[in-house]
Amino acid sequence: MSTVTLENKTILVTGAAGFIGSNLVKRIYQETSSVTVIGIDNMNDYYDVALKDFRLNELTKYPTFTFIKGNIADKALITEVFEKYKPSVVVNLAAQAGVRYSITNPDAYVESNLVGFFNILEACRHCENLEHLVYASSSSVYGSNKKVPYSTEDKVDNPVSLYAATKKSNELMAHAYSKLYNIPSTGLRFFTVYGPAGRPDMAYFGFTNKLRNNETIKIFNYGNCKRDFTYVDDIVEGVVRVMKKAPDKKNGEDGLPIPPYAVYNIGNQNPENLLDFVQILSEELVRAGVLPEDYDFEAHKELVPMQPGDVPVTYADTSALERDFGYKPSTSLRDGLRKFAEWYAEFYR
Ligand SMILES: NC(=O)c1ccc[n+]([C@@H]2O[C@H](COP(=O)([O-])OP(=O)(O)OC[C@H]3O[C@@H](n4cnc5c(N)ncnc54)[C@H](O)[C@@H]3O)[C@@H](O)[C@H]2O)c1
Repeated sequence: MSTVTLENKTILVTGAAGFIGSNLVKRIYQETSSVTVIGIDNMNDYYDVALKDFRLNELTKYPTFTFIKGNIADKALITEVFEKYKPSVVVNLAAQAGVRYSITNPDAYVESNLVGFFNILEACRHCENLEHLVYASSSSVYGSNKKVPYSTEDKVDNPVSLYAATKKSNELMAHAYSKLYNIPSTGLRFFTVYGPAGRPDMAYFGFTNKLRNNETIKIFNYGNCKRDFTYVDDIVEGVVRVMKKAPDKKNGEDGLPIPPYAVYNIGNQNPENLLDFVQILSEELVRAGVLPEDYDFEAHKELVPMQPGDVPVTYADTSALERDFGYKPSTSLRDGLRKFAEWYAEFYR
């Protein structure tokens, strides 16, 4: 792999007002202050925009951070941004996320995840100093894979949602561009990321809102779900390590480039039962003062069947990440949910 230094470089992060994107920008500035980060986000209202404003506000303290409000599906804008800033590293996190929403709003996925990602690839192709394109894929590409843990060697041709199909498509498109134009690209399959200022459409956040409003939470598949929950700091640590090592550019026997292309899982490699997760969450919400000490948790829990597009288990094999980057996520659910609960108590005070 080739080392990519971040010092004195320009890095483009799409989805910079998003949950992972905003944490990534902070983590990049921890790595080095002599860097310029350009963030793009269209600030769409898929979930409460106040959260995106809150995250962006935390980034204003970095003098070399520039924010551009815009859509990655807008080809003219993306071309202009690349021509103006000439990024050395691009991290594409902008996407329409969520599995269930893709059933009712498929267009948003085609626009952001396919057209948007295509525009990023095209711009990378014409960007002379580009050293590495890193982009978000998802554990959802594994569909209802029976074999666990999920390895990047597994066949992932059977997506069970349009969201998953777009993420798998991103990997295929990146492969073609890596091969055709020798663009070093690394796709990262994230596994259920959680943490402070996270996404309200995700279970832990939705559960918290409901419990606080005295509503009942629905636990799908009667609680027989396992998720490889991954704390956001662990994810962005992994992303930064990956950014700094790009797949090598090499020629094959035919004299043509072997695509400098890689895909990794980033997850905790420790799936937790949804019911245990909810138990820890409720304890931490009480500890942080979001719920009262005597909260009748059992009375607010309803076990219901599986939802379309959902999968019963996600479990990451992260041995390749460990081998190539010497890194493995390790934050416990207790510690991660504690930080989430404390943030929630403060934010919604
Ligand atoms: N959070 C997870 O558990 C998880 C798991 C697997 C994969 N991912 C992927 O990681 C990436 C980041 O996820 P996140 O959890 O931070 O989600 P997020 O929704 O918080 O962040 C995505 C950001 O991209 C922006 N965006 C969406 N479409 C855009 C467009 N067309 N142009 C410009 N900006 C646009 C949104 O406004 C949002 O701020 C996404 O690609 C997502 O699919 C996340």
